Amino acid sequence: MSTLQMVPVNEPDRQYYFIDKARTYVRQLGEALGRTPRACITTFGCQMNSKDSEKLLGVLEEIGYEESSEEMADLVIFNTCTVRENANTRVYGRLGRLKPVKKKNPHMMIGLCGCMMQEELVVNKLKDSYRFVDLIFGTHNVYKLAELLVMRFESKDMIIDIWEDTDKIVEDLPTERKYPFKSGVNIMFGCNNFCTYCIVPYVRGRERSRRPEAILSEIKRLASEGVVEIMLLGQNVNSYGRGLPEEITFAKLLEQIAAIPGIQRIRFMTSHPKDLSDELIEVMAREEKICNHLHLPVQAGSSRVLKKMNRIYTKEGYLTLVKKLREKIPDISLTTDIIVGFPGETEEDFLETLAVVKEVRYDSAFTFLYSKRSNTPAATMTDQVPEDIAKERFDRLLKEVQEIAHERTQRFTGQVLDVLVEEVNQHDPQYLTGRLSNNLLVHFPGSEDLIGQIVPVKLSECKGFYYLGEKLEQGE
Ligand code: 5AD
Ligand code: SF4
Repeated sequence: MSTLQMVPVNEPDRQYYFIDKARTYVRQLGEALGRTPRACITTFGCQMNSKDSEKLLGVLEEIGYEESSEEMADLVIFNTCTVRENANTRVYGRLGRLKPVKKKNPHMMIGLCGCMMQEELVVNKLKDSYRFVDLIFGTHNVYKLAELLVMRFESKDMIIDIWEDTDKIVEDLPTERKYPFKSGVNIMFGCNNFCTYCIVPYVRGRERSRRPEAILSEIKRLASEGVVEIMLLGQNVNSYGRGLPEEITFAKLLEQIAAIPGIQRIRFMTSHPKDLSDELIEVMAREEKICNHLHLPVQAGSSRVLKKMNRIYTKEGYLTLVKKLREKIPDISLTTDIIVGFPGETEEDFLETLAVVKEVRYDSAFTFLYSKRSNTPAATMTDQVPEDIAKERFDRLLKEVQEIAHERTQRFTGQVLDVLVEEVNQHDPQYLTGRLSNNLLVHFPGSEDLIGQIVPVKLSECKGFYYLGEKLEQGE
């Protein structure tokens, strides 16, 4: 029988076959080096990419690599983002710096994956000017890492494997969690919304939801391993379930997840205002485990600009939604994304954005200068806003957002709230750092053994965007 016939066709069996095979090559590399081969994955961009990197690291550890810093690594992978122009520039810069390192260490391998690789222009540029890259793959075939590495070990050529789109979801591959007590869980992939500024639908493909039983059994397993907080991930979680054979909505999925023993906190992102249902608001209000926080990107405050962005809702619709949320969940923390300088944005439009910010009073907001992404509809709009005007508006917006966030953050001073302890404080080892249900950071004195636990902390001093506190002792 030829080896080809022995390669399983179905996933995940096929990848387990290649994981085995890759292990042999990594072992041989280790023998040649006289030590365990080391790998480093650098992640750019959003939580989706972080999750993908955990999957990549899971496979790398399974085949015998040990995680290390970039300087020490025999395999360096950049998991890239392409949402804004400067994200691409940073990757080229980092790659340029790796070239001399690889010259000195000929066994070294460099891999590139993620959203930026889904752009044809990028891959062409890499083929022409960055020949020292070993492996290029995209967002749809992250699960194939072992197979692609085997291909690279068996040939001296650059391996390029980019798919335009997929309807495939491969379950049950190894993954390496960054934290033992919290974890991201993909519930859907891709996006169908085509906001006119956004490259995501082109690089992450069409929306597809994971089957509820796959999600639930993953979360049950995580809970049995000690995970207490999960973050459900999708570009547009509110439309979860569309296209699945079973009758399920995001709200129903949340209820089923909340019933899993051991899971104490549930977060999710990102919510599109156009699909945020009353059913979801009810479930959020009812289920204790769902965190008191909603990230609800507004993007712009002018209905005219929202229409040009293809956001589907109006300013009034968004504000009504916020009102409804605050009525049902009075103390909810709201955060948002805002783009400044979208093509055609006038001073009046911008003032409407500022007015929305003042009315909603966000607990925090990510503000972005509009960045032209080629191949998106907005890139060819003829009324691009001059950079100096956009920058000036951006600074005004940032000032407003920060002032409001400071004021909002203070409202918890003196209260005792539950904190999930995440790590030893990075500046002072006597302190721990954790998060409130609403995502605010809290630093307080305490010992390492509390990491992963939810403890009551008195929020004594507000420091703008975070709190200093003291842990309550039993009986206090
Ligand atoms: N320019 C600026 N910001 C953008 N975002 C997405 N595309 C662009 C772009 N072309 C922002 C949106 C989105 C967040 C993740 O990134 O606000 O919600
Ligand atoms: Fe981009 Fe809009 Fe989809 Fe978000 S919802 S990923 S902004 S297209």
